Amino acid sequence: MALRVLIPAEVLRERVARLAAQICSDHPDGVVLVAVLKGSALFLADLIRTMTVPVQVDFLAVSSYAAGTGRVRLVKDLDADISGRDVVLVEDIVDTGLTLTYLHGELARRGPRSLSVCSLLDKSCRRIVPITVRYVGFEIGDEFVIGYGMDYAERYRNVGAVLAGELDVLRHDPDAYVAELFGR
Ligand code: PRP
Repeated sequence: MALRVLIPAEVLRERVARLAAQICSDHPDGVVLVAVLKGSALFLADLIRTMTVPVQVDFLAVSSYAAGTGRVRLVKDLDADISGRDVVLVEDIVDTGLTLTYLHGELARRGPRSLSVCSLLDKSCRRIVPITVRYVGFEIGDEFVIGYGMDYAERYRNVGAVLAGELDVLRHDPDAYVAELFGR
C-alpha cells in the first residue's frame, strides 16, 4: 500500500512561483493562460497567484473517444477569442503527449500571436508524440501520481503535495489511500 510524497507542498510552492516569474518575464504585455480541466486546477490557481502581468484565464476540457486509443475530443471550448494573443496552455502532466498535441493543434489554428506549453510534471519517458514543453515544473519517472489536482477515479485532487501511489492498489480499491490521507 506504499504511498509516498514525491513533491512536498513547500517545494511545489517555490517551483510554481519560479515558473510564474518566468512566464511573466517572457510575456511582459500579459498572457492568456488556458488550463486543461480538471487536473491543472490547483496548479493554475497557484501559478496566477504570484503573476505580475495582466493575466486572463480560460478553460478547456477534453474527453477520450475510447480509453487507450489516444484520440481525444473537445468537450468544453474556450470562452475567449485567442487570435493575436499570447497564449500558454497549462497542464498538470504530460504523459504520452497525445492530449497536448491535439490541443496545441486546435489552438494554433485560431491564430494566436504565440502559443507555448507549461506543465507542472513531465513524464517524458512515456512520450509517444514529441512535443515541446517550454515551461516544465518537474521531470518525473514512470510513477503513478495523485494529489495537487491529480486524481484516481476523482479522488485525491485535494491533497497539497504530489504523491506517488501504486496503480494496482488503486485499481483494486480506489479508496485505498483515503484513510491514510484523510484519517477516516
Ligand atoms: C491527464 C492530464 C493530461 C493528460 C496527459 O488528464 O491532465 O490532460 O492526462 O496524458 P497524455 O500526455 O498521455 O495525453 P486526465 O485524463 O487524468 O484528466 P483530468 O485532468 O480531468 O484528471
